[in-house]
Amino acid sequence: PLQGCIRIPGDKSISHRALILNAMARGEAAVSGILDSEDVRSTARCLAQMGAAFSEGTISGREMALDAPSAVLDCGNSGTTIRLLLGVIAGQDFTAQLTGDASLRTRPMARVTTPLARLGAAFKGDKERAPLTITGGHISNGIIVSTVASAQVKTAVMLAAIQGEGTLRYTEPALSRDHTERMLSAMGVELERSRGVDGSHTIEVRGPQVPEAIDVNVPGEISSAAFFLVAGCIVPGSDIVVEHVGVNPSRTGVIDVLKSMGADITLTNERTVGGEPVADIRARYGSLRPARIEGDLVPRLVDEIPVLAVAMAHANGESTVKDAEELRVKESDRVTTTLNILASLGVETTEQPDGFTVSGRPAEPMTPPSVDAGLDHRIAMASVVAGLPLSGETVVRGADAINSSFPTFSKLLDTLRD
Ligand code: S3P
Repeated sequence: PLQGCIRIPGDKSISHRALILNAMARGEAAVSGILDSEDVRSTARCLAQMGAAFSEGTISGREMALDAPSAVLDCGNSGTTIRLLLGVIAGQDFTAQLTGDASLRTRPMARVTTPLARLGAAFKGDKERAPLTITGGHISNGIIVSTVASAQVKTAVMLAAIQGEGTLRYTEPALSRDHTERMLSAMGVELERSRGVDGSHTIEVRGPQVPEAIDVNVPGEISSAAFFLVAGCIVPGSDIVVEHVGVNPSRTGVIDVLKSMGADITLTNERTVGGEPVADIRARYGSLRPARIEGDLVPRLVDEIPVLAVAMAHANGESTVKDAEELRVKESDRVTTTLNILASLGVETTEQPDGFTVSGRPAEPMTPPSVDAGLDHRIAMASVVAGLPLSGETVVRGADAINSSFPTFSKLLDTLRD
């Protein structure tokens, strides 16, 4: 069984934003608890290439004016880095080239280049995929209605908007994670948020507004905690606590779903750290019921679906995931790669364009997974979790990908195993 208490590293989304927003701001900020992973290093490196270095926990704001980079900005595996930096550069007076690894170069970029072009940025060549060449300049705000609930797109557009003229009115079909709104508000940027009767969310913000640098104490990453929470639920006899986890309501779908499955999950020590709610989360082994994931819940747990699918394999009946077409454009096609994990366990599934079903608790004992993670950190970690309750060897090819978001994953897992 897994037993004990671990403290989880910093939230990736908040870490990216703490660096990027403070790089744009007026003044100097101390950032603590930042995630030390490949993705966040990519953001720090690209910002340094534009004159905003982060060192010894401190970042000096450039008061909205960055330097033209002299070399290509390599965003590695990180969708957040490339999309958020496009929003920043959209308002800058220079041209930059951005690229990334083989996974990032396949991912859709029109969702961000199209609205940024509408606001005034210019793109040379391909607008759909990296490598991308953007020339920033005069941003003139207006109305943008997005068809995807994406925090990366929302943030990119807001970062362009605060550098522009006029008022941006940005609507997304459901609420995606709202760390940018919280951080910008804390930095003194005036913005208004409203919810439509159809569940859509709208932000109004006018430009130009210069954010004031703020110190950020980054809470722990719920998406990383999720691997241990599911492990605690499925490995017989387990009882674990993950401390200091960010529990922003736009991120806690994984807790809601595990609770709906009858999992023994409790939150304690709830507090607020730097404008974000934080708690310690306890997970204990127990039997699980099937789950249903759809609609507005999807953006609240989009990164946790691979590991939730592993929990579904242990539930007594059929679980369903719908409205999750976004999974297909993450670090891998996560409908396919998640179903590969389950197939390798010997669990029956069906695939749909926007999701899948899982027939939990197969008649035959499950077999330990043998999976190729490709360049997808979360598929690698979900595969490891899938193997934990089974006897026999788990094989994960490409497990290095874990360094994108969670370099200390296996060390923390060992702590719970001892
Ligand atoms: C992120 C938003 C999500 C998430 C990604 C990080 C962010 O992507 O999947 O891991 O930091 O804004 P989308 O906003 O594109 O859904």
